[in-house]
Amino acid sequence: MKISVIGCGYLGAVHAAAMASIGHDVVGIDLDPDKIASLSAGEAPFFEPGLPEILKQGVASGRLRFTTDMSEARGAAVHFVGVGTPQKKDGYAADLTYVNAAFAELAPYLSSGDIVAGKSTVPVGTAATLTPIVESAGATLVWNPEFLREGFAVKDTIDPDRLVVGVPAGDAGETAADVLREVYAPAVAKGTPFLVTDLATSELVKVAANAFLATKISFINAMAEIAEATGADVTQLAEAIGHDVRIGRRFLGAGIGFGGGCLPKDIRAFAARAEELGRGESVGFLREVDAINLRRRERAVTLVLDALDRDVVGKRITVLGAAFKPHSDDIRDSPALDVAVRLRGLGADVVVTDPQAIENARRQHPQLTYVEDRDEALRGADAVILVTEWDEYRRDLSPEHASSLTVGRVIVDGRNGLDAAAWRAAGWTYVGMGRP
Ligand code: UDX
Repeated sequence: MKISVIGCGYLGAVHAAAMASIGHDVVGIDLDPDKIASLSAGEAPFFEPGLPEILKQGVASGRLRFTTDMSEARGAAVHFVGVGTPQKKDGYAADLTYVNAAFAELAPYLSSGDIVAGKSTVPVGTAATLTPIVESAGATLVWNPEFLREGFAVKDTIDPDRLVVGVPAGDAGETAADVLREVYAPAVAKGTPFLVTDLATSELVKVAANAFLATKISFINAMAEIAEATGADVTQLAEAIGHDVRIGRRFLGAGIGFGGGCLPKDIRAFAARAEELGRGESVGFLREVDAINLRRRERAVTLVLDALDRDVVGKRITVLGAAFKPHSDDIRDSPALDVAVRLRGLGADVVVTDPQAIENARRQHPQLTYVEDRDEALRGADAVILVTEWDEYRRDLSPEHASSLTVGRVIVDGRNGLDAAAWRAAGWTYVGMGRP
């Protein structure tokens, strides 16, 4: 099938390459000429495992190309729109500038019978406002939210756990759902749940899912706060409640909390949209979810301060991690970097290391010191804080090896990923989050 993908960021670039990898003829379109040049050369403009391989294959096969020219969307049967919806500069709501611009620019190149599938995460009601633009070209607008996780984006796109398509009522909607089934034929053939809903439900599915995930993380972080006041251990608590299949252990990792380009801005946009709808109190708890999350960053800083007897000025502190989570070079709203910046603000001599995210981090926070090599970053440290649980730090760094590099023996485990007993046995002061 001929497919266009508008917007080639974390979502669109992966979607375009994944669609080509399952046999479609795909053109990816983005305004950024640098991004397009890199993608056209088969190079991923960001770190995403598996993406370079399918990009190269797609480009070499001739079934995948990239351009800045929107007119090349003409002739595609399905147009996916996956542009960004960041938080507004002056508030909590989503900024729909890029979505509105993409639809306005795409509209002249739509033909009767085309399908436009919105993938961006948008406030509920957005599809309804965009429908007239699409329908005036004789095309049909559907919403097909994306649930991919960075770091697993290729797998999540080709082999998702569910597909959701919001369609308008009537024949056009049913036809569009059938076309999307064809687009995702390999996943559908495998029996992947394929849910057809109305437009509003499909928009809500995405924000509801992210709100739930964020709430789950903040729930366990709230328990961490209680654990800190009582001497309990939140990691044991998480394990114990996680065995209840109704609760489940995943996303009960207490630590410095969630960040990234989705969860934080999505819960804020959801709360803002609910206010507009006169239902602010229905999701009022999301403000608390956000507040708990931000408190954990502050808490991590306090733990470092306490471990160093509140004297961090001039102390060398190695920050293990900059990305908002492992397997990603994304530093958007990264709790890891936030902690690093706060420590530096207190006068510490902060050294940040990360296997993938240093370049992005340096661009945003040039005031921090970055060292690529983990061991070089650890050398001479008075204290260490683990903030992104890359295997290089969580699994592969032994306390004995760390002892051969650092001056001090203080480690704050911002992700509760280390073996506390092993670090203590090696003579370290180990400090977890929500753990005695
Ligand atoms: C999220 C959703 O998972 C995905 O479905 C949606 O499409 C986009 O948003 P992503 O932002 O890639 O994906 O990251 P995710 O794996 O969900 O992690 C989000 C944040 O939560 C990270 O900062 C991570 O470190 C943190 N987290 C996760 C915890 O603090 N504890 C946990 O137990 C799990």
